[in-house]
Amino acid sequence: MYWVRIRSGRGEAPASARLVPMTILVTGGAGYIGSLTARLLAERGREVVLLDSLERGCRAAARDLPLVVGDVADPSTVRAVVDEHRVDALVHFAAYKAAGESMEQPGRYFRNNVGATAALLESAAGAGVERVVFSSSAAVYGTPDALPVTEAAPLRPESPYGESKALVEAMLGWLDRLGGLRSVSLRYFNAAGAWPDGSLGEDWTLTTNLVPVVMKALLGRRPPLQVFGSDYPTPDGTAIRDYVHVVDLAEAHLAALCHLESGGASAAVNLGTGVGSSVREVLDAAERASGRPVPHELAPRRPGDPVAVYADNRLAAELLGWKPRLGLDDIVASAWAWHSSHPDGYPAGGHHPDGHGS
Ligand SMILES: NC(=O)c1ccc[n+]([C@@H]2O[C@H](COP(=O)([O-])OP(=O)(O)OC[C@H]3O[C@@H](n4cnc5c(N)ncnc54)[C@H](O)[C@@H]3O)[C@@H](O)[C@H]2O)c1
Repeated sequence: MYWVRIRSGRGEAPASARLVPMTILVTGGAGYIGSLTARLLAERGREVVLLDSLERGCRAAARDLPLVVGDVADPSTVRAVVDEHRVDALVHFAAYKAAGESMEQPGRYFRNNVGATAALLESAAGAGVERVVFSSSAAVYGTPDALPVTEAAPLRPESPYGESKALVEAMLGWLDRLGGLRSVSLRYFNAAGAWPDGSLGEDWTLTTNLVPVVMKALLGRRPPLQVFGSDYPTPDGTAIRDYVHVVDLAEAHLAALCHLESGGASAAVNLGTGVGSSVREVLDAAERASGRPVPHELAPRRPGDPVAVYADNRLAAELLGWKPRLGLDDIVASAWAWHSSHPDGYPAGGHHPDGHGS
C-alpha cells in the first residue's frame, strides 16, 4: 500500500501527525477493464474509489468497492471525491471506445474522450492528484508500417476515437512539462478475457470485439459470426491481432502506478503480448474451451482492416517490469466462464441501452 503523511493544506492535522493510506481514483471503474483493474488493485491492498457515469458501465461490476456515480467532466464531483477519499493518483479509463461509432459521431467522441478528460485532469490536479495512468490504445498508430509495432512508430490514427487518445497523450505531455503531473499512457492492443472465475467480464451488448462476438455465437445469441477475410497472406489466411488478457492489463496498471510512485518519468507504453493470433486460432481456442463448434461463415475482407497488428512489448518490460503471463487459451477460457455463466450480462440496472462497442 502507498502511504503518505496527510497534508495540512487540505485542512487536516499537521503533516507530522499520522500516516494515512492514499487512494487511487479509478474513472470508468464500472466498465469492463476498469472494474477488473479496480478489483485487482483492491486485492493488492490498494485503497480505490470508482467514478463512473454508468452510461456504459454497470453498477454490479463495481461489486463492493466504493462507487461515485457522476461525470468526470464535472469539477465539483471530481474535487469532492479527491478531497473526501484523499486521492493522489488517477487511473483514467472513462471514455467511449468504439472506433466505428466515432466515425459516425466524431463530436461526441471528442467531447467525452478529450473535453471531459481535459476537465478531469484540470480539476484532479488542482485538488492534489499527482500521478495519472491513462487508457490509451494501439488505435493511435493506425495501420502500422512495420511489425512488431514499437512506441516509436508514427501516430497516424484512422478514426476520431484513435485521434482522441493521441490528443489526450499530447495533453498529458504538456501537463507534465508545465505542471509536473506525471503520467503513463498505456496503449492497449486487443483487450480480451475475464476474471478467471468468470465473475467479472465484458458486457457483450456494448462491444463488437472478436472474443465476445465468438462467445455470443457459441451461446446461440447471434447469427453465425462472419470471418472477414480468409485470403490474407497469413499461415491460415485470416487476419492477425495481439490479444492481451484483461488481468495482465490490470497488472500493468499497478506496475505503472508503482513506476510513478517511485519517481519514474512519464511515458507511453505498448501493452500487448508481442504474439499475434489469427481469427482461426481464436475460433480453435474457443472450440477447445467450450467443447462446441463456433458457428461462423467466411466473408470478404473489410476495407481498411490491416493484415496483422501486434506489439513490441519490450518497453513495458524494461520500464515497468511488466510481462504478460496469460495466453490465448486463458483469454478464451475465462471469457467462456464469464459469458456462459452470465449470458444476459450483469444483473439489471446500470448502463443505458444506446451503447455500441469497439
Ligand atoms: N476494450 C478494449 O479493447 C480497449 C482497447 C484499447 C483501449 N481501451 C480503452 O480502455 C478504456 C476502458 O475500456 P473498456 O473496454 O473498459 O470500456 P467500457 O465502455 O466498458 O468502460 C468505460 C466506462 O467509462 C464510463 N464513462 C464513459 N464516459 C464517462 C464520463 N464522462 N464520466 C464518467 N464515466 C464515464 C462508462 O460508463 C463505462 O463504465 C477506454 O478508455 C477505452 O478507450 C479499451
